[in-house]
Amino acid sequence: MHRKTGETNPLLRPEWLYINPHNMNEYTPEDWALMNQQREIYLAEERAKQALELLLASRNAPTFGYLINNYEHCLQTATMLYNDDHDEETVVTGLFHDIGFIVCPENHGRFAANLLGPFISNKNSWMLEHHEIFQRIHMQGLEKIKGSDFVNAREQWRDHKYFDWTAEFIDHYDIAAINPDVENLPIEFFEPMVHRVFSTPSSC
Ligand SMILES: [Fe+2]
Ligand SMILES: [Fe+2]
Repeated sequence: MHRKTGETNPLLRPEWLYINPHNMNEYTPEDWALMNQQREIYLAEERAKQALELLLASRNAPTFGYLINNYEHCLQTATMLYNDDHDEETVVTGLFHDIGFIVCPENHGRFAANLLGPFISNKNSWMLEHHEIFQRIHMQGLEKIKGSDFVNAREQWRDHKYFDWTAEFIDHYDIAAINPDVENLPIEFFEPMVHRVFSTPSSC
């Protein structure tokens, strides 16, 4: 849908009001109060839905060499976590762990941690943020080019309380989740979990 000059986009609820000034400098306190009131409801209803749409945007993307694309990789990680009886929050963490892999490759761990952070445990948030560095231990073929400090970079966190979980995630649910012979659970299976996780603020 292309917006023509002078047209507005629809509100989520028909009974809501537009805030009319064309420059935020002109918003009054009452305007901001109304905006924030509508925003709270909007986020509660739309946040999970739009996060899923971000993921779905790459559903049919080609790959640059892997046998399955990044979307299928994310589904496979979530499927493996679910099949191993991990809790719902961890399954959803796996589903989104590489959502920024293509658009923000060097910081895709932080990308996912920022997206899910308000709704997941510190343990999973830390794992997301650091997983790309932990993965380097499995890139021994790069040692000659990048050096041993690069591939062994996870060692700086050897004594961290979340080291073992992050290493386990990489070992069991990331580096092997590139298998075209695995039948992934469909995205529809995970959608209710995503909505539940996004509606429950993290408590730790
Ligand atoms: Fe990753
Ligand atoms: Fe991954």
